[in-house]
Amino acid sequence: MRGFDLSRYLRASRKLDLGGIDFDRVPDYPLTRAEVRCLTYMMDVESHTVIYLRDLLGTRAAYDPEITAFLSLWVYEEFWHGEALAQFLRAAGQRFTADRTYAIRAAADGGGTMVRAAKRLASRFEPNFVAVHMTWGAVNELSTLSGYQQVVAGTRHPVLVELLTRIIKDERRHYAFYYNQSRQRLDGSARGQRLVKWALTNFWTPVGSGVRPQEETDFVIGHLFGGDAGDSAVRAMENELSKLPGLGGMRIMTRARNRALRRSPVAMHPRFTHVAASIG
Ligand SMILES: [Fe+2]
Ligand SMILES: [Fe+2]
Repeated sequence: MRGFDLSRYLRASRKLDLGGIDFDRVPDYPLTRAEVRCLTYMMDVESHTVIYLRDLLGTRAAYDPEITAFLSLWVYEEFWHGEALAQFLRAAGQRFTADRTYAIRAAADGGGTMVRAAKRLASRFEPNFVAVHMTWGAVNELSTLSGYQQVVAGTRHPVLVELLTRIIKDERRHYAFYYNQSRQRLDGSARGQRLVKWALTNFWTPVGSGVRPQEETDFVIGHLFGGDAGDSAVRAMENELSKLPGLGGMRIMTRARNRALRRSPVAMHPRFTHVAASIG
């Protein structure tokens, strides 16, 4: 992973380009119930980014002008990912209630005040806490990017492939930012390395946990990462993250995958089942 050119990112950042994507053709191609369920989850998680940002800005990370410059555009790009997935799903015939996003945020906020206060306090007294957030962001962007790649690899829907290929390009840049921030902060800081490893090992859960019900997270993990290709993808991500200073041998993703597969055995054969999805 090369360094991250922030000023170049700031100049290049823009709303996801949907030019040439023919949403009218979406119903013409096959889309499984399982794919719809995964994409709905991804749409909800993308739309939740602004809430994640609120929490992040409550910490010491808000003092850093490079981080806030990135976040200002990052949240904008993620917003349009959510909108694009919603447009695709609506074109595929899915209907969502008008208060969906409100209801998801309200449901996810239970206990959030205490957690935010704890994070704010911890980051106030521990400067290395910013490294935790940056590494956490790297893990989340990498797993999001890999999740989209798994959808692309498994689908027979050409419009979806085109859309996700464009989103993936943004996710790569997001990942590069967080990864480089993490590397810079961990480099030469034994205390930072210990803190980050401890925090991720004890508190990290897959993207969307706490935003959507556990069974949805488990289903998505099972569908996208349940098979042999998914297993390889998880190992590849962990190998990549193991290159960060002090984080060698961290296996939080394998652990999360195994837990999801234990809880949701139906997802063991996700590619071949059209699971009756409950899509609200
Ligand atoms: Fe995104
Ligand atoms: Fe992203």
